[in-house]
Amino acid sequence: MFLIQINQVSKRYENGFQALHATTLTINSGEFTVILGPSGAGKSTLLRMLNGLETPSNGEIWIGDRQLTAKSRRSIRAKVGMVFQQFNLVGRLNVMTNVLTGRLHHRSWWESLLYLFPKKDYDIAHWALARVDLTEKAWNRASRLSGGQQQRVAIARALAQQPAVILADEPVASLDPVTSEEIMELLLEICKNDGVTVIASLHQVELAMRFADRIIGIKQGQVVFDGTPTELVTEQSTLQIIYRREDGGTDEDPNLEVAVVHS
Ligand SMILES: Nc1ncnc2c1ncn2[C@@H]1O[C@H](COP(=O)(O)OP(=O)(O)OP(=O)(O)O)[C@@H](O)[C@H]1O
Ligand SMILES: [Mg+2]
Repeated sequence: MFLIQINQVSKRYENGFQALHATTLTINSGEFTVILGPSGAGKSTLLRMLNGLETPSNGEIWIGDRQLTAKSRRSIRAKVGMVFQQFNLVGRLNVMTNVLTGRLHHRSWWESLLYLFPKKDYDIAHWALARVDLTEKAWNRASRLSGGQQQRVAIARALAQQPAVILADEPVASLDPVTSEEIMELLLEICKNDGVTVIASLHQVELAMRFADRIIGIKQGQVVFDGTPTELVTEQSTLQIIYRREDGGTDEDPNLEVAVVHS
């Protein structure tokens, strides 16, 4: 069953830069999709359009049976959780309040202004915090937590939205390798156990190979690969294409990373 349809979507920024060329993709419900590509490939541009944070220059985006438009954006966004590289928590607020802000999508503007939350929202926030195993940090200031813990709070905030999909833009780019694994595990678990479709952008081939059901490789605003991790390994040339720099070098050594995966 498809959840998201991207039909001929492109993005040209106001300064004339074409960040995404016409792209057509279908994302299936319950799948863990990784958008893989080097810096500047257009990963954030694509994810931000799926959440209505950027408007496509052309094309259509459908979430379920609803088209994403200026009018539908607010109610669609309520069902789309976002996780960012820099966590984007409010550092001076406690963990619980940060998680509760995930409920704001379901509240009126004046309730949000006053940070007024009904008991139901607290129950959901408690559940979300338990889900990421941070119940004991509920009343700590968010800024006091470690990076990995802060990202778990951000995931709990997304979960508190009771989303159909979580978009994670480089969720582990600011974390050490061990913590990165934990966060990827958590996202995978949420995808498989809670039935939340996850689309995460990454630039590490190795993590994409380990966690993704499907990898969409993009480079310079174009999809250059779309398949399973196994297909990516058998298409070594594709990895070269994704990571080959214009000057002939590579941004990373994908062969080396793939070798590590299989050793
Ligand atoms: N608001 C903007 N105006 C003009 N150009 C932009 C804007 N935002 C992004 N770009 C350009 O679009 C291209 C794609 O950017 P994007 O942020 O989507 O890449 P990315 O794959 O997420 O990169 P990274 O891995 O560094 O986060 C880049 O060349 C970037 O400089
Ligand atoms: Mg980005």
